[in-house]
Amino acid sequence: MCGIVGYIGSKNAVEVILAGLHRLEYRGYDSAGVAVVRDGNLEWVKSLGKLTALDKKLEEKPLNGPLGIGHTRWATHGVPSETNSHPHFDMQMEIAVVHNGIIENYQELREQLQKEGVTFRSQTDTETIAHLVRKYYKGDLFRAVQRALQDVTGAYAIGVVCKHNPDVLVAARHGSPLIVGLGDQEGFIASDVPAIMKYTRKVLYLDNGQVCEIRRDGYRVEDIQGKPVTLTLQHVDWDDAAAEKEGYPHFMLKEINQQPDVIRNTLRGRVEEGSDQVILRDMNISEEELKAFEKIVIVACGTAWHAGMVGKYLIEKFARTPVELDLASEYRYRDPIVPKNTLMIPVSQSGETADTLEAIRIAKKRGAKVASIVNVVGSSVARESHGVIYQQAGPEIGVASTKAYTSQCTAFALFAIWLAETRGLMSKSQAKELIAYLREIPEKIQWVLDNQEDIVRCAKDPKYLEAESALYLGRSFNFPSALEGALKLKEISYIHAEGYAAGEMKHGPIALVTDKLPVVCIAVQGDTYDKMVSNIQEIRARKGIVLTVATLGDEDIRAHSHDIFYVPPCYEPFSPIVVAVPLQLFAYYVAANRGCDVDQPRNLAKSVTVE
Ligand code: M6R
Repeated sequence: MCGIVGYIGSKNAVEVILAGLHRLEYRGYDSAGVAVVRDGNLEWVKSLGKLTALDKKLEEKPLNGPLGIGHTRWATHGVPSETNSHPHFDMQMEIAVVHNGIIENYQELREQLQKEGVTFRSQTDTETIAHLVRKYYKGDLFRAVQRALQDVTGAYAIGVVCKHNPDVLVAARHGSPLIVGLGDQEGFIASDVPAIMKYTRKVLYLDNGQVCEIRRDGYRVEDIQGKPVTLTLQHVDWDDAAAEKEGYPHFMLKEINQQPDVIRNTLRGRVEEGSDQVILRDMNISEEELKAFEKIVIVACGTAWHAGMVGKYLIEKFARTPVELDLASEYRYRDPIVPKNTLMIPVSQSGETADTLEAIRIAKKRGAKVASIVNVVGSSVARESHGVIYQQAGPEIGVASTKAYTSQCTAFALFAIWLAETRGLMSKSQAKELIAYLREIPEKIQWVLDNQEDIVRCAKDPKYLEAESALYLGRSFNFPSALEGALKLKEISYIHAEGYAAGEMKHGPIALVTDKLPVVCIAVQGDTYDKMVSNIQEIRARKGIVLTVATLGDEDIRAHSHDIFYVPPCYEPFSPIVVAVPLQLFAYYVAANRGCDVDQPRNLAKSVTVE
């Protein structure tokens, strides 16, 4: 997730772009850059690090011009560096491109362009777009962009300028957001409304596959095949504060709502078109190595450790390889045994968690191969690992991890399928079926997001809102869901909550059940459903308050539950990815109703970079 701003008009584009990028910095902040067209020249400045570094460079080397594009980056391909930062250029340095998204066929395009004599400067997928536009450029930038995009698959929002076209700013989108703002003799493009709210409230929302040519005195929109499109101008009346959160009161809620797109992005580029073969190239694991691993160790902390537990269950089920799951803080202090042919998979949203990093160092010293699941590209965990699966979830700002968790579980599902297929334990048709299930998950999450009335109602109900303590129970694949649901509630609402494997209920926690104790029971359809119903009956018999997460259509469960959060039917091993969402929403609304600081809960930091 990156931020894009572009401007055409009579103001200094650099000032407009910088002001806009500062409003978009929450979308990415590992590097930034700006390019302007002035007097037939294309000039640019790029910088590694936060936007303030770019501000400083521009103070030293001022840029000025009435047409330009800018970008704040959240790396997906290629480490954060000045070379990989945007804008990217054609070989002649005449065309500049900024991009947000992931070009799925960039390897193919890159190889093809290289055969045609193109030299690449960066490791990014974006640079292919600049060279493609040049390939098709015959003086009309709009047409060249349209034609170039016909070769591209994946997600993009782009802004393009060319030094030979000083009166044209071209924008296009597919799968990544982009808006066009219109002013008096001026036009804007941006990833998000707040970037241009200072200048205009008149906005066009580009739709997938649409390309827009913006001139000072007007615009035109067509699809990439050249068919004209009519868009309705919208008026935005958000206030400034709500704008960065896209109208949500908290980043956490915004991030919960982003999850359908996040899961799509985690899957993006990882499943070969046509063959439905999983490909995880960046893990840097050869087929021989993959076949030879005798043991897998997953290390992580907090929510990432819960995702690790989902990963363990998936890998063991599909790939029949023993998995040891460890808290990174325990692993590093317990003299772990690392037999030969061990693969370690550290999991970390930030990639900066101190204990996880130390666990990696120990495992590497003892001969393990390390391939991590990480969200932040170029972070320490990614750099210190031999390989990586980048989550492609975009920046997570709320301290309570939400979209990173579901995306980590999705990454594990991909890995488990890949491992199982490579080891000959899963047929192509089985893998295909599982991938189809994964592709359905975003819609299932969307259903939960669109049907949250019961969650909102329960979060206001005093029996939950004023509870002192809560239990969360789940079995098998949804044991980690119980742990994660409890962690979400406790960290943001300060209600004491514990997650338990439901089978452990009778071994202690049942002593806590009274008519004041809410027990959240995850009883979705699957192998352990009947066992969960028995647990629910035991709780009811002791007058506990039962809040059940159940499968849509399960009416029998009503008789046993005080309240129910339904989720759509889901293949059980992947159900934790969907089940997480009502639990996140419940924790969020309870915390918000209790007046807690949802995005920055007391005593917590987003990344724990010290022991
Ligand atoms: O950045 P990481 O994924 O390594 O962070 C791990 C934990 O600190 C993190 O998941 C923490 O538990 C969150 N506050 C949970 O919401």
